[in-house]
Amino acid sequence: MSFQNIAIIGGTGLTQLQGPQLNPALVVETPLGQPSSPLHSGQWAGKEVVFLARHGHPHAVPPHKVNYRANLLALQQQGVDAIIAVNAVGGITPAMQSGVIAVPQQLIDYTWGRDSTFFDGEFRPLQHIDFTHPYDETLRRAIVQAAKNAGIAALDGGVYGATQGPRLETIAEISRMEKDGCDLVGMTGMPEAVLARELGIPYACICLVVNPAAGKSDGEITMDYINNVIASGMQQVRDLLAATLAR
Ligand code: HPA
Repeated sequence: MSFQNIAIIGGTGLTQLQGPQLNPALVVETPLGQPSSPLHSGQWAGKEVVFLARHGHPHAVPPHKVNYRANLLALQQQGVDAIIAVNAVGGITPAMQSGVIAVPQQLIDYTWGRDSTFFDGEFRPLQHIDFTHPYDETLRRAIVQAAKNAGIAALDGGVYGATQGPRLETIAEISRMEKDGCDLVGMTGMPEAVLARELGIPYACICLVVNPAAGKSDGEITMDYINNVIASGMQQVRDLLAATLAR
């Protein structure tokens, strides 16, 4: 893989990296505040990695209160040349069953009220950036190919719908999202992806489906169910990260 200095943003179920040789935690400050957690850097599968827990560790910052801009600036300060995000998501379309890993290709942003740009005319002058392809295709391909080579099942593509949270959605909201073309629903994919693009850092994400989205199963969605899927599925995501880094 052409990327050498890679950031991993871990979400629900991945608040710590095990496996890599990590240096002591680095507490950093940015002009836009502190990132969600100290940074852990080190070597993993032959690459320099920097790990950031999106919700802090232990898991605490809710999706709508994450300081995404500070997170991205902190990673830029570390000189990373790519960012792989990990997201626990709900599955909307039939292929997106619990336990499935997907590497989405598109997104729709339903979030509101978040600080979602550096180019706000205050921190940086206004700019309208291209976001036709929200994820970096080279990085996406590297992840998908690594999965193939390592024998890890990972779906290539899908549309990620980013919702505000922290509550889960209603059945009507998920129906609307399905009509819009969303395959996956999560709360943290935006503005993370666009902020990475604004900084010019290639970004892609690995989604682990942890529950059927609202109305896609008979019952209600419980945290017990989600935690069970995370417990059984996140190791595959770790394996996929290692396989991607090793390329
Ligand atoms: N909706 C939104 N975000 C999520 C879900 C969901 O069903 N599951 C995990 N993150």
